[in-house]
Amino acid sequence: MPDQIQPVRGMNDIPPAEIAAWQFLERCIAELVTAYGYEEMRVPLIEHTALFKRAIGELTDVVGKEMYTFESQGGESLTLRPEATAGMVRALISNRMLRGQRHKLWCIGPMFRHETPQAGRYRQFHQLDVEAVGFTGPDVDAELIALSARLWRLLGIEHVRLQVNSLGTPESRRAYRELLVGYFRDHEAQLDADSRRRLGGNPLRILDSKSPQMQAIVAGAPLLTEHLDPQSREHFEAFCALLRDFGVEYEINPRLVRGLDYYTRTVFEWITESSGAQNAVCSGGRYDGLIAQLGGEPTPAIGFALGMERVVGLLVQAGRAPPPAKPDVFVILSGDRAGTAGLGLIERLRNELPHRRFECNLGGGNLKTQFRRADRSAAPLALIVADDELDRGVVAMKPLRQDSGQSECPIAQLAAGIEQALAALGVS
Ligand code: HAM
Repeated sequence: MPDQIQPVRGMNDIPPAEIAAWQFLERCIAELVTAYGYEEMRVPLIEHTALFKRAIGELTDVVGKEMYTFESQGGESLTLRPEATAGMVRALISNRMLRGQRHKLWCIGPMFRHETPQAGRYRQFHQLDVEAVGFTGPDVDAELIALSARLWRLLGIEHVRLQVNSLGTPESRRAYRELLVGYFRDHEAQLDADSRRRLGGNPLRILDSKSPQMQAIVAGAPLLTEHLDPQSREHFEAFCALLRDFGVEYEINPRLVRGLDYYTRTVFEWITESSGAQNAVCSGGRYDGLIAQLGGEPTPAIGFALGMERVVGLLVQAGRAPPPAKPDVFVILSGDRAGTAGLGLIERLRNELPHRRFECNLGGGNLKTQFRRADRSAAPLALIVADDELDRGVVAMKPLRQDSGQSECPIAQLAAGIEQALAALGVS
């Protein structure tokens, strides 16, 4: 036997048994974002590497360590998207959709980051991405949070907490950055290797350090919230007031800095305790400078992305994942003529009852085998199409999960007969 080819590490299959939860989540999302006036836009999985370098920042972990970058046959440097915001913005610019216009957009799809795989952290994962472009906020900031809070309610997910912060403008952040570098330099001997590396390039990310050794130093660091410019402070206060008005609970986490460089002002994360270290299920913020930085006309924007795998995990934990779909009717075909005539009969029934799921026994087998398959299919009702009954113009019906016996139904009234039998079994 030839060697089996293994799946690529960190890249998962989603087997049929898990699909119902995914489809339930995707349906809830599509209905909700549409109800808030968002339109779907689809963008490529592959972009020029320069897009992510410029948008996300060369010094971030995502760009520095985690991108799937390759050279195309034409010699271009291309990258599998590690996130969707850069591509969405690129698409707005390429399609000349800005020009003073406003857009509320969403997309769902796979993202790729070469991280160390563990529960809730994968190399191919899926995001719902939501972006509101052309709005200065803070109303849209708060509305986006209300949308995400409503999604948790719709899904029946309870144990998620909202953390918010403001990163101010690039100018106020630059001044704060200097302050912070000064503070960490004073404590350089106590910094771990990761933080020492970040000190030169991305010192704000030290605040995000999960290392126990760093906690005391981080706790003593100056806070960005205390060094905000007046407009950013006003924006943040108005945003928080709206959240209170909407009844959305939140915590201000002055050390929430996010791992991508494009953020300004409002940032937020929905976190959960239940999935271990990988606790951010939905995160985002405002990126007022990004569009201009990518060559578009200066346009404020805000958005978030939700980690679909993590939310599916929460759905399963909360017992909210719907069971896999099962057929309404399993069709047993007994006899040579029934084998073909029966299939034709079911095709006509599918025209009459398009909302019903019929599963026909394919590939033959004796009655015992076919009844075993019917049982395994979990269908509540079996139709038995057999040569003798066909000659008499009838087929037999038998409930599979109840002890009531077999009955006969004239073929001419089969659609109504099936509906009646299913109704009697409590199948809507
Ligand atoms: P992010 O925080 O990098 O933001 O990712 C958003 C969410 O994607 C995370 O909260 C997490 O749930 C999920 N996620 C990230 N990495 C992984 C992974 N390796 N495996 C599984 N799930 C993961 C962004 O991507 C921004 N583009 C969000 C945004 C949109 N900001 C403005 N607009």
